[in-house]
Amino acid sequence: MRIGVFDSGIGGLFVLKELINKYPNNTYYYFGDNINIPYGTKSKYELKILSSKIIDFLITKEVDIIVIACGTISSNIYLELKEKYNLPIYDIISPTIEYLNNSDYKAVGVLATEMTIKSNIFNKINKEIYQVPCPKLVNLIENNLDYQTILDEYLKKLPKVDVIVLGCTHYPFFEDYLNKLNYKTINMGKILCKKLNLENNKELKVRLYFSKINHDLIINIDKIIKCDYQLEELCLNYQK
Ligand code: DGL
Repeated sequence: MRIGVFDSGIGGLFVLKELINKYPNNTYYYFGDNINIPYGTKSKYELKILSSKIIDFLITKEVDIIVIACGTISSNIYLELKEKYNLPIYDIISPTIEYLNNSDYKAVGVLATEMTIKSNIFNKINKEIYQVPCPKLVNLIENNLDYQTILDEYLKKLPKVDVIVLGCTHYPFFEDYLNKLNYKTINMGKILCKKLNLENNKELKVRLYFSKINHDLIINIDKIIKCDYQLEELCLNYQK
């Protein structure tokens, strides 16, 4: 299969990593729109323009399906995109909501972008929900800067919870840190992959496209993706 995956930057690579683990023999086309990062503070209108350009590009690669590896796009405009395009499109959040609704957890914490929290999507979870918007984290992660102090501040806003949803796909970056602090975490990419039922065929090919390539990006890609990949800089034309 040919699978298109996209995000505002490197966050969706954590989803790609899970896809490759579970469905290794496919061709993956990944687009990270890091020139436009962060998506988490953009309007729905902007998010629609940006994501449509990316999907149009992925379609030129003849992908069979598209995975929206971005919580912000999934929570705000998934239904519009699904309606607009005539191929299977999967969002990253609804499998996690379904999973939690069938779980025994009582109190659930959610860390996510401002736009994801504003969308109220996580209010569909039938548990006690505590949501903390974390607007500063994505830029720190993308630029390989220290995120710990800021993250600790955000964590102080959460009461005691049974589990924390990493509601933005960039956040598995600090999953180990949270686990060391004894927080249980939910990685939405893992839950999505359990639910998907994809074919495996041919050999693994991974093509990564980013709208801006620099040293920090390459360091981050190599931290996350442990297989051969081809990397290309590609700036889509975002004229409205
Ligand atoms: N990784 C994205 C998400 O899951 C977007 C983060 C951002 O660009 O603000 O929401």
